[in-house]
Amino acid sequence: MTLSPPPARTEAQPARATAGTDVVDLYLRHIGSGRAVMGRVMGGMAEVRSEGAWIHADDGRRFLDFGGYGVFILGHRHPAVVEAVHRQIDTHPLASRVFLEPVAARAAEALAAHTPPGLDYVHFVNSGAEATEAALKLARAHGRNCLITTRKGFHGKTLGALSVTANATYQTPFEPLLPDVVQVEYDDPADLEQALAARCDRACVVVEPVQGEGGVRIPRPGYLGQVAALCRAYGALLVVDEIQTGMGRLGTWWGVDAEDVRPDILLTGKGLSGGVVPVAAMTATAQAYAPFSRDPYLHTSTFGASPIACAAALATVRVMESEDTVARAAALGGRILAGVRAVCAPYEGGLVREVRGRGLLIGIEFAREQAVGELLLEMIARGVLVNHSLNSTRVLRLTPPAVVEDAALDLFLTTLAEALRSTAARVAG
Ligand SMILES: Cc1ncc(COP(=O)(O)O)c(C=O)c1O
Repeated sequence: MTLSPPPARTEAQPARATAGTDVVDLYLRHIGSGRAVMGRVMGGMAEVRSEGAWIHADDGRRFLDFGGYGVFILGHRHPAVVEAVHRQIDTHPLASRVFLEPVAARAAEALAAHTPPGLDYVHFVNSGAEATEAALKLARAHGRNCLITTRKGFHGKTLGALSVTANATYQTPFEPLLPDVVQVEYDDPADLEQALAARCDRACVVVEPVQGEGGVRIPRPGYLGQVAALCRAYGALLVVDEIQTGMGRLGTWWGVDAEDVRPDILLTGKGLSGGVVPVAAMTATAQAYAPFSRDPYLHTSTFGASPIACAAALATVRVMESEDTVARAAALGGRILAGVRAVCAPYEGGLVREVRGRGLLIGIEFAREQAVGELLLEMIARGVLVNHSLNSTRVLRLTPPAVVEDAALDLFLTTLAEALRSTAARVAG
């Protein structure tokens, strides 16, 4: 992503004196110059408060959050999740790990009620990458030590997860990574079959239903079903990474629902937090999970499945049930996609290559990488947050919450139209 300084603030967003400069300074001295410089380029604000679809900065401005890297399907600080977490903090936030933890048990039951049939076992962790690590270790415990991943796939940045995150920029400085990893073309069952045929029953396939960080790449209908059939035919373990696509993001509980696919392992995270407490999970069939089930010390983490994290996960699932978040995501996603397509239409064939999306995961692919950075800054200057894509530098990514009101949607579309106009004037198509 190429970033240049942000455009001037608009009249609609008057700025007050900001404490952000102190924060930039502290970042420079204690966290890192790269992040400090990025913060300055983004306008130098510090974020201090949030609710629903909005984030508030220390200079008094508020920002409509259509980014959040896929975390905020319920928006920020959903009141029911906040209340459940408060209650847990007031009673028992972290566990002894000697006795059983009722909230972990109830959260696992609640989540398993919505995973595809047969994925009854849940291993809670603190981040998406840890969920991937758990899956890779489980695969090895079954002797599946050849990992097949897809080009532009993203599965996290811890060493194991990074081995299947197909991006040389992030991998090269840390090589050697895990051995015996093969990258195949996404949305290409023939390429997968070739890799599987060479590895027979030693393989574990890791795949996303839609590649989020890969630039909202939506495979052709039937792809996931074909992947599952090939894994069955060659005796490979199938791990579907729904850390970004799950929990209603695609307008279904899981991306696999669209093709009735039942993986051996399904990963979730991001939205499971309810926008309140970091939590992720690896879910698995009884057969796949057996090594972890037999020996609870085989793969552990002090804070994994903590009562506060599980309280957030349990409340999130309950909110999704009571507010019908999945249906809302499908309906709202359709409206946003139609709106974005209409706004981008005049630029198609020039600045804009393609607009694509499913549910509330929407990508705008540009002809030039520079446009992503420019548009992102134009949007921030007008009070709207959006994201780039880590494994596809020409794609701007939208992951809005399912709680966006009509007025906020109108504001988003108007802002996108203005920001595109301004970007088009700066960046040739
Ligand atoms: C599909 C997918 N898998 C794994 C991860 C890693 O999750 P985390 O950043 O919580 O470690 C991400 C994060 O963007 C993701 O999109």
